[in-house]
Amino acid sequence: MSETNGHGELPDETPDETPAGPHRVIGTPPPAEARTLLGGREPDGDRPAPRELPADPADLRKAKVAERLVAACFIVAMLAGIGFIAAYIGLEVHSVDAVLRSNLALGTSLSVAFLGLAFGATIWVRHLMPEVEITEARKPLASPAEDRAAFAETFTEGADASQFAKRPLLRRTLIAATLPIAVAPIVLLRDMGPLPGTSLRHTVWRKGLRLVEDVSNTPIRPADFSSPGGMITVIPEGYQDDDDALAKAATIIIKFAPGELQHPTVLNWTVDGIVAYSKICTHVGCPVSLYEQTTHHILCPCHQSTFNAPKGAQVIFGPAARPLPQLPITTDAEGYLVAQSDFHEPVGPSFWERG
Ligand code: FES
Repeated sequence: MSETNGHGELPDETPDETPAGPHRVIGTPPPAEARTLLGGREPDGDRPAPRELPADPADLRKAKVAERLVAACFIVAMLAGIGFIAAYIGLEVHSVDAVLRSNLALGTSLSVAFLGLAFGATIWVRHLMPEVEITEARKPLASPAEDRAAFAETFTEGADASQFAKRPLLRRTLIAATLPIAVAPIVLLRDMGPLPGTSLRHTVWRKGLRLVEDVSNTPIRPADFSSPGGMITVIPEGYQDDDDALAKAATIIIKFAPGELQHPTVLNWTVDGIVAYSKICTHVGCPVSLYEQTTHHILCPCHQSTFNAPKGAQVIFGPAARPLPQLPITTDAEGYLVAQSDFHEPVGPSFWERG
């Protein structure tokens, strides 16, 4: 096996007539004559002269210290890497505590391994590698005119030889064969699910359907909800287990003192100062679950859209583009709150047809 001297060059006894591609021990740098940015080519009119990098750092004593530091970092990285494998193989993961210990060991060992590599590489680059300015010669990107002419000629020859232009039957059937493949991705869009149709425009609310308190599922009489300033969530009776229906039909009711409700709230759709609004935020559909009694503001916790409850739940702040739709309510023969109809506009986020 060939040996190198301390600078990675072949020893003096290596014959001068050694052909290109000298013997090197794996892991050692190439001989100095090959360490040029442009591969040792002789300068000519178009190319800049090859420039040789310095073979050694300026301060060999500092370089030796840096070399040992780098080696230490790499050894730490190697040990941490071995530790990672050992932890992965050896540590139990059959309980929550064991998983925590395993994760800690894996994370720590992997971090130390990467840090060791990073520190070693950084010290290597900063203290052992030469600090030189490198200029790369650039040629024009366009091919020479003769190459382009040759390409055009070859292309035309190939087109003629392929018979593509001369045989319209082949040409047309080929186009017909590839067309369905080209539109196949559009067909795949169908897999995104059935079209919503008009389902986004309606909820399950209908005339006479009782409003029941969420969770307890108890119907509500106006007298039960007598303290102005309160807000409760209500759902349509009989749909408490239908998540699809509730996703659109969830509603809030708020009680106001006489005279507090104002335009554009539809007063004919309220009962004794109780007004019902959709609970689905008109921004991107979060439940509007916060209510400030003093300001009468309904707040959406997702992006802080704020709705003015006594004034038709108009937007006064935030990204929502339109008010919360109002549900027309009244009372039935037994005095319970019921819907007069469905919402008169779609609930939830605005979508493209509606803006
Ligand atoms: S979903 Fe309500 S503000 Fe965004």
